[in-house]
Amino acid sequence: MKILVTGGAGFIGGNFVQYMVNKYPEDQIINLDALTYAGNLETLKSVEDKPNYKFVKGDIADREFIMDLFEKERPDVVVNFAAESHVDRSIEDPEIFVKTNVLGTTTLLDASVKYGVKRYHQVSTDEVYGDLPLDRPDLFFTEKTPLHTSSPYSSAKAAADLFVQAYHRTYGLPTTISRCSNNYGPYHFPEKLIPLIISRALNDETIPVYGTGENVRDWLHVHDHCTAIDLIIRNGKVGEVYNVGGHNERTNLEVVKTVLKALDKPESLITYVTDRKGHDMRYAIDPTKLERELGWEPEYTFDTGIPQTIQWYLDNKEWWENIISGEYQNYFKEMYVDK
Ligand code: NAD
Ligand code: DAU
Repeated sequence: MKILVTGGAGFIGGNFVQYMVNKYPEDQIINLDALTYAGNLETLKSVEDKPNYKFVKGDIADREFIMDLFEKERPDVVVNFAAESHVDRSIEDPEIFVKTNVLGTTTLLDASVKYGVKRYHQVSTDEVYGDLPLDRPDLFFTEKTPLHTSSPYSSAKAAADLFVQAYHRTYGLPTTISRCSNNYGPYHFPEKLIPLIISRALNDETIPVYGTGENVRDWLHVHDHCTAIDLIIRNGKVGEVYNVGGHNERTNLEVVKTVLKALDKPESLITYVTDRKGHDMRYAIDPTKLERELGWEPEYTFDTGIPQTIQWYLDNKEWWENIISGEYQNYFKEMYVDK
């Protein structure tokens, strides 16, 4: 099988490419990535010389390039991770989110129809469901929860999901969609909460907590997201949506305190900063469909995944120090210091 993975130089795509290259030596994995600020080929070091792996640089929204690539490679399966993924950046500059997340997806869908792709899988997010109130712990997102987005990022992801569903119904493209909760784990870009806490705490820098820190996220180790997608592309029902999550809800403040404690760093590093505009209160996934239909089970809980992740950041300082010493420093200053 030839599998085209887009966005494979990013956090989740990079973990997925490594997982697939090692697990299925008989499959060909092509990693297509534009190498934006979030793409990093250092993430793929362990697989770059494997015979079943190939990297191609390119933009999923570049129609001519994508059509040429599909003509040449004729992939059996497409797994689309490529996206602008950071909510805060979408609030500052929504346009690139429309271009990559919506136009990029429709370009891949057109090519998939034209070249008869056997499975198109869209990696989506629980953020398309909006948020849940803090005082209703009995409520969870199911696949039937209406789309009700808050940020430019989640709106662009929801638009992409609707196009995927339209291409299934209208053109008969064999599609699946997964909607996962917040991931954490190795190779996570330090603009996101957990790697930001780890990298800044290790340097004894302040940890910015938005608003009161009471917002809840439902955390899943990236390895468990990868196993879910693998199951869905092989055994998932065409035309269906699958929620992915492991029931690991934590307030942001709990997350910050857990990581600081594990690193033996003081809570005095916590600094409350202006809240994110439109900040979603609570995400919580009901993964019953994935568990019952496909037998998926997460390997990690938050309590086992966090120490593993911290250890990875301690063992791989060079990977993240290269990032935070570069252009990212200016972003951080603009986001938190100049405001
Ligand atoms: P990321 O920002 O770490 O990686 C995105 C990758 O896409 C980067 O390598 C980047 O270079 C590439 N890319 C961006 N624009 C591109 C373009 N136009 N053409 C080709 N490549 C391009 O993101 P991530 O956190 O790994 O998320 C991957 C996917 O999973 C996204 O679609 C995101 O919406 C979804 N998702 C993320 C999470 C999470 O917690 N991080 C949870 C659920 C779903
Ligand atoms: O739920 C899935 C989504 O999770 C994905 O679709 C997104 O691509 C991914 O970025 C992530 O979105 P979040 O906005 O939830 O993740 P982030 O790490 O940016 O923030 C997590 C929570 O922590 C959120 O409530 C905002 C808060 N936060 C974040 C940062 C970066 C802080 O309090 N301080 C910070 O410095």
